[in-house]
Amino acid sequence: MDNLKMSKEEWNEVENTLFEMVPDYDKINKKITFGMDEKWRGAAALESEGTCTALEVGSGPGTLAVKLMSEKVICLDPIPEMHAAFRQKIKENFLPEDKFEFLTGSCESIPLPDNYVDIVYCAFSFRDFYDKEKGLCEIYRVLKNKGKLIILDIAKPGKIRNKLIYFYIKRIAPLLVWKSREHIHYLAETYKAFASPRYYAKTVEDAGFKKIVIKFLSFGLAFMLVARK
Ligand SMILES: C[S@@+](CC[C@H](N)C(=O)[O-])C[C@H]1O[C@@H](n2cnc3c(N)ncnc32)[C@H](O)[C@@H]1O
Repeated sequence: MDNLKMSKEEWNEVENTLFEMVPDYDKINKKITFGMDEKWRGAAALESEGTCTALEVGSGPGTLAVKLMSEKVICLDPIPEMHAAFRQKIKENFLPEDKFEFLTGSCESIPLPDNYVDIVYCAFSFRDFYDKEKGLCEIYRVLKNKGKLIILDIAKPGKIRNKLIYFYIKRIAPLLVWKSREHIHYLAETYKAFASPRYYAKTVEDAGFKKIVIKFLSFGLAFMLVARK
């Protein structure tokens, strides 16, 4: 696992871990971030105001998708059980079923035509792509001209804080979600292999995006990268 790529075996391990987390995914996130994850998603969701079609890549159980203000939200995830969990959430919360569309697949090969969506979200999923450069090229392809890309994830704000965040994920967070402590290890590993937001701003630029802005959230614990096609 490095800054840009994962082997198929590493990615399968990450996906198996995420698959096992499906029933408790939201609870785990809330506990280990003390509820801050919801605020971060709320801030990112504001970018969707006034847009027609959003694509969320790595939509998981719809934790961000429910907040998006686009008329249509396409949810792409390689794990069908994530979609099933989101469908259940839609039913339980009486959300408009026809607002959401589900695609099973990965970012490295998006099953959509060119210039199709107005905004693309990668919320806590960019870290898990097995080929980030290929994923960004695909996102660029499916975005309409002047469309927006939003990447939301845990930040690497600087050497000391990176070490503290890693220590927290590796040693403290598992104590807060004891039943799922094994799953948190994957999170620590993907965080370790993750680079800084500035590093990924360059990768995003190399994929053809412009007007790249990085916003740090909660004193640098998370970041939101906004870019335009
Ligand atoms: C940590 S969850 C994030 C879920 C949701 N976006 C959120 O805000 O909580 C990461 C999701 O990305 C998906 N994922 C992993 N690799 C992917 C890839 N290569 N392409 C698309 N999605 C991927 C996983 O299956 C998982 O559902």
